[in-house]
Amino acid sequence: MIKDIQKQILKLKEENDVCILAHSYMAQEIKEIADFTGDSYALAVKSAKVPQKTVIMCGVRFMAETVKILAPEKKVILSNPDAGCPMAEQMDKETISLVKEQYPDYAVVAYINTTASLKTICDVCVTSSSAVEICKKLDADKILFIPDCNLGSYVAKQVPEKEFKLLHGGCPTHAKISESKLLEAMEKHPNAKVLVHPECQPDVVQHADYVGSTSGIVNFVKQSEDKEFIIGTEISIAEELQYACPDKQFYPMSKDLICPNMKATTLMDVYGCLKGTFGDEITMDEEKRLQAKKCIDEMIRLG
Ligand code: 13P
Ligand code: SF4
Repeated sequence: MIKDIQKQILKLKEENDVCILAHSYMAQEIKEIADFTGDSYALAVKSAKVPQKTVIMCGVRFMAETVKILAPEKKVILSNPDAGCPMAEQMDKETISLVKEQYPDYAVVAYINTTASLKTICDVCVTSSSAVEICKKLDADKILFIPDCNLGSYVAKQVPEKEFKLLHGGCPTHAKISESKLLEAMEKHPNAKVLVHPECQPDVVQHADYVGSTSGIVNFVKQSEDKEFIIGTEISIAEELQYACPDKQFYPMSKDLICPNMKATTLMDVYGCLKGTFGDEITMDEEKRLQAKKCIDEMIRLG
């Protein structure tokens, strides 16, 4: 059944000149029919270069908005209209405009998990894989980092020469990973390397052998000689790795580490997008798009 739907999707995709992009947190059956899978930085950079006229983004809304900002001539469809990122909804343009007034000499660095509207007033965007490098290179000594205080705190430790102001935003899925649970897992699997996403809380991140984006974690494992890994991010990364590296052992921090928004998209949703019966076409006011594009262009220039 899954194979049949996948076959029909691949056929429709070719016939209609459609590119399917899938974030690393998508289910395996969706990654299998995608033209390209990766972390949010790789997807953003790739989306601007694909030759197809239509892009289906299997991910969350801010990722589809980023494609539209970079490639306005393309028809961009979010695979499931309900797939938002709660962290991206935590801070809005009006609130951050007020915060900016309190910190006029700070550059505003926005995690890419923000709305297009909020991006219009930020200086530069970052992703989990590019945040440290970009904050180092940025021509500013004072940084207001929004919205994720866990990623912000990790970056601040890596860039001690700069002053950081953090606000209290973050990812509800990664917040489920606690230090006590990690210590339990480390005791149970003493030879396992600990790999975590920087959206985890600092008391979890401090125990990690590697801190990186979703693709960073996957690449670390593929290049490693080690055989056992504790995975501190959404469950799909441990699943993907177990599938790709059957000779290695992966211990997800918890079976509940599921991002409901990333998991909202099903294979049938993608099929519906290709048939024109499902999905949400992203539209954007041109002035807003151009303003939001500035901080994404800056991310690509520095990243
Ligand atoms: P990546 O940049 O690692 O893909 O992360 C995006 C995300 O939403 C993680 O929760
Ligand atoms: Fe947003 Fe967290 Fe889901 Fe990533 S895992 S999309 S940050 S809610």
